[in-house]
Amino acid sequence: MSVADIIRRRRSCRAYLEDPVSREAVERVLEAARLAPSACNQQPWRFAVVTDVAWRREIIEHGFRMGIPMRWALKAPVLIVVGMKRSLIVHRAAVKLTKIDYPWIDIGIAGEHLVLQAEEMGLGTCWIGWVKPRRVRSIIGWPKDIRPAAVITLGWPENPDDPPGPRPRKELEEIVTWLPTEPGKSG
Ligand SMILES: Cc1cc2nc3c(=O)[nH]c(=O)nc-3n(C[C@H](O)[C@H](O)[C@H](O)COP(=O)(O)O)c2cc1C
Repeated sequence: MSVADIIRRRRSCRAYLEDPVSREAVERVLEAARLAPSACNQQPWRFAVVTDVAWRREIIEHGFRMGIPMRWALKAPVLIVVGMKRSLIVHRAAVKLTKIDYPWIDIGIAGEHLVLQAEEMGLGTCWIGWVKPRRVRSIIGWPKDIRPAAVITLGWPENPDDPPGPRPRKELEEIVTWLPTEPGKSG
């Protein structure tokens, strides 16, 4: 499968088989995240792998916000908490100079590397951003300098041959600005 195929095929998966995912498979998706690019190569991402059912339940029931139905996540055999550890020097200086908070970009890239690697292996994933960072941190026992930012569910899809249909996307015209070939000339 080409990268383009993987990107086109991926959907957020919210229905999982309870079959476990092997440690090797989890390590493979984490390895894809590890290789992601990051501003100044700071690699601010951190990951916590949660497979134990009681821990997963604790995170889902107490670490997720109310308002969006999320009980489907209980069936995902693996939760990967995506966290961010800022560099006190590089990131602080960078945001002062540029007003761009690079670690958020970096962890998004790493998380999506993980998601696309999982897709190639036939594993389903779903990003969950509707979380309570402090609560998740206290559940998983991360120190204060690592901020949980999202959770990614991971598991074997219940209906691999009948994935959810694609969610709509904006057309390129709406999201892309092409500059004219000669500065100052339009068209
Ligand atoms: C940063 C981020 C946070 C998200 N948070 C949630 C969430 O809390 N709950 C959920 O069910 N889906 C969540 N999603 C999944 C999106 O709803 C989904 O990606 C979007 O609707 C497009 O659908 P698709 O992933 O199937 O293409 C999140 C996705 C991203 C990238």
